[in-house]
Amino acid sequence: MAKALRFGMVLCFLLYPCLVLSQFDEFYYNGFKGVSDKILSLNGVAEMEGSGMLRLTNDTSRLIGRAFYPKPLRFRNFSDGKAFSFSSYFAFAVVPEYPKLGGHGLAFTISKSKAPIGALPSQYLGLLNSSDIGNFSNHCFAVEFDTVQDFEFEDINDNHVGIDINSMESNASATAGYFKDDLSKEDINLKSGKMIQAWVDYDSLSNLLNVTLSPLSSKSKPSRPIISYNVDLSPILLDTMYVGFSSSTGLLASSHYISGWSFKMNGPARALDVSSLPALPGPKRKHTGVTIGVSVAVAVLVIFSICSAIFLFRNIKNADVVEEWELNVGPHRYSYQELKIATKGFRDKELLGFGGFGKVYRGVFPQSKTQVAVKQISRDSKQGLREFVSEIESIGRLRHKNLVQLQGWCRRRADLLLVYDFMPNGSLDRFLFNEPKMILSWEQRFKIIRGVASGLLYLHEEWEQIVIHRDIKASNVLLDSELNGRLGDFGLARLYEHGSNPGTTRVVGTLGYLAPELTRTGKATRSSDMFGFGALMLEVVCGRRPIEAKALPEELILVDWVWDKWSRGEALDAVDSRMNGDFDENEVLLVLRLGLMCSSHAPMARPSMKQVVSYLDGDVRTPDAVSAPWESEVGSSTHEGFDDFVHSYPSSSFEKVSSSSYPAGRDADIEDAPCRPTIALLPGKVDSSQ
Ligand SMILES: *[C@@H]1O[C@H](CO)[C@@H](O)[C@H](O)[C@H]1NC(C)=O
Ligand SMILES: *[C@@H]1O[C@H](CO)[C@@H](O)[C@H](O)[C@H]1NC(C)=O
Ligand SMILES: *[C@@H]1O[C@H](CO)[C@@H](O)[C@H](O)[C@H]1NC(C)=O
Ligand SMILES: *[C@@H]1O[C@H](CO)[C@@H](O)[C@H](O)[C@H]1NC(C)=O
Ligand SMILES: *[C@@H]1O[C@H](CO)[C@@H](O)[C@H](O)[C@H]1NC(C)=O
Ligand SMILES: *[C@@H]1O[C@H](CO)[C@@H](O)[C@H](O)[C@H]1NC(C)=O
Repeated sequence: MAKALRFGMVLCFLLYPCLVLSQFDEFYYNGFKGVSDKILSLNGVAEMEGSGMLRLTNDTSRLIGRAFYPKPLRFRNFSDGKAFSFSSYFAFAVVPEYPKLGGHGLAFTISKSKAPIGALPSQYLGLLNSSDIGNFSNHCFAVEFDTVQDFEFEDINDNHVGIDINSMESNASATAGYFKDDLSKEDINLKSGKMIQAWVDYDSLSNLLNVTLSPLSSKSKPSRPIISYNVDLSPILLDTMYVGFSSSTGLLASSHYISGWSFKMNGPARALDVSSLPALPGPKRKHTGVTIGVSVAVAVLVIFSICSAIFLFRNIKNADVVEEWELNVGPHRYSYQELKIATKGFRDKELLGFGGFGKVYRGVFPQSKTQVAVKQISRDSKQGLREFVSEIESIGRLRHKNLVQLQGWCRRRADLLLVYDFMPNGSLDRFLFNEPKMILSWEQRFKIIRGVASGLLYLHEEWEQIVIHRDIKASNVLLDSELNGRLGDFGLARLYEHGSNPGTTRVVGTLGYLAPELTRTGKATRSSDMFGFGALMLEVVCGRRPIEAKALPEELILVDWVWDKWSRGEALDAVDSRMNGDFDENEVLLVLRLGLMCSSHAPMARPSMKQVVSYLDGDVRTPDAVSAPWESEVGSSTHEGFDDFVHSYPSSSFEKVSSSSYPAGRDADIEDAPCRPTIALLPGKVDSSQ
């Protein structure tokens, strides 16, 4: 291995100093160990790992990582402008953050620039942006290995190879795979996390561009390419171009790796020595919640440790009773004693606040020194306890960087204690209203909105079940140490409903964030969450509560006030004056517009979370027209009704839990169905090959 590697290196070093543009340019990286910036130029988040593996992106959202051969190469004959033949051979791997969900992919590219200005991540793979898409002056050629199906670019599926010319809409594409012999095609799962080898060969005499794939484990290059596309690259390429890789992540993310790369102009690329390529870093077991199926060994271990824990509890006075079925539950089950010690006996000094459902204490585990927030919920009924706990189990499996993670729980008599990640900066409302300690800048506010949007998108569309939050508001948005917005209390509203009278449901939520239809139907839906999110967006921009009891009558309801300003073309007057006019006007207008759209009284008129996220990301233009929130309302004018509501809850009592009934058996909103049969996440994102 060392020998082959050294050989590759030597070749690079030999080539590098005498780099005159020639029609026989060639290079060869059998692993990138010791390869410096001069030999391969990296930009974005691309990094060389110690093992010699090139990592283009990690699994954080919306990154771009690129690696290019540092010098431009001569791609065309200077005298007649005819493109040269070339051949490239490389090995790559895509390791997704969540199994089966890639984001977004990587591309082999020949480009004017090593760092295209204004290029976007996500579906643009760091190559182009929404305004230059399809423009002939891009001079961008790419072979994409795409793991997300973008309908915008007519992607065939979420596991394809495509040839892109000046656009992200592929000229030719095929499901990733290879020909074992001339007839039988075998699929390859790009995001399997395994190394894959690929060849891109262009022959300028026949104008044929071939792309060939195969698993790294298969020995020889398949005789038949997966794509063979007839194209003359002469007008697309310039005389000199850069060659390399570009990769990006979006809302969903993967780590993209390249372990070896060889390239040759006017001849076949040298074969990589597959046996000596660097290996992928070991698997991270970050998202165990998503992986289904715990191995027997782990199960035995867990049961063993829980049993020993029980043994301990039993010896403690005031022991909390553990029933057999509770042993099967996922998130960590703490003993009451542990939590009592962590919160110093639930001392008032440790009280962080009163959440919608009970008191919240700060806790520190003495051994690990980890800080947690412990939420104490008292239940009025012992009924349905098993369902209660199975709900906790499913909440515990929700994992997203913009959610406050549930760490574990503890049950003691009628009390339930939930243990969450501790958020050092507390809740968002403390930064917005009254006299905040610190005024959030627009950048911080926008980041918080986008974070919460991405967390909510996960709850609404990306998890195995649809989760309705039901109580979106500034005090349920917590800020971590980097002031990222994270949604708290998700799943709790629904959890709270278990054990309540069948046939009655409680409208859980907070006045001002409550969608008008909720007070009629009592049915929480994704669009009622959107209403709450709309109110949240407006208050973050305006620095005001959705209903400000102390305000002048015409300013009482935030959304009406904003609409009034908006319709008179003075929307910017609604912006929080404490930012001293220091903000990005376009972003502010975008958020106000979205806030108004989400505040529509007609549930159908509100955008979905997915749409909101793509508007916020600037990937899609928002519709120009916004109508008054009450205008699209069908039937009776709930606007008045909503006002009445306000007047009957003056001043401080904005927390509202009311009761309404709906006919039993008609509670078939999907959200409340016990379990949706398939783990269908984003449409088209389920890998059918699994
Ligand atoms: C990924 O890289 C970015 C930029 O280098 C960094 O901020 C982030 O923490 C990394 N994420 C992980 C999960 O390592
Ligand atoms: C470039 O084109 C000219 C004219 O067609 C030809 O004579 C020459 O050999 C070509 N050079 C290369 C390097 O292909
Ligand atoms: C899109 O990319 C082009 C260069 O290809 C750049 O000039 C332009 O500013 C970019 N547009 C945006 C909106 O970033
Ligand atoms: C293509 O890009 C060029 C240069 O960036 C610009 O002048 C031209 O207007 C663009 N064409 C289209 C159709 O957008
Ligand atoms: C295919 O490539 C050509 C350039 O050769 C481009 O003009 C055309 O728009 C592309 N077609 C599609 C469907 O992307
Ligand atoms: C491309 O594939 C076709 C069809 O299999 C083959 O005839 C041709 O020789 C290949 N060309 C290159 C440059 O690999």
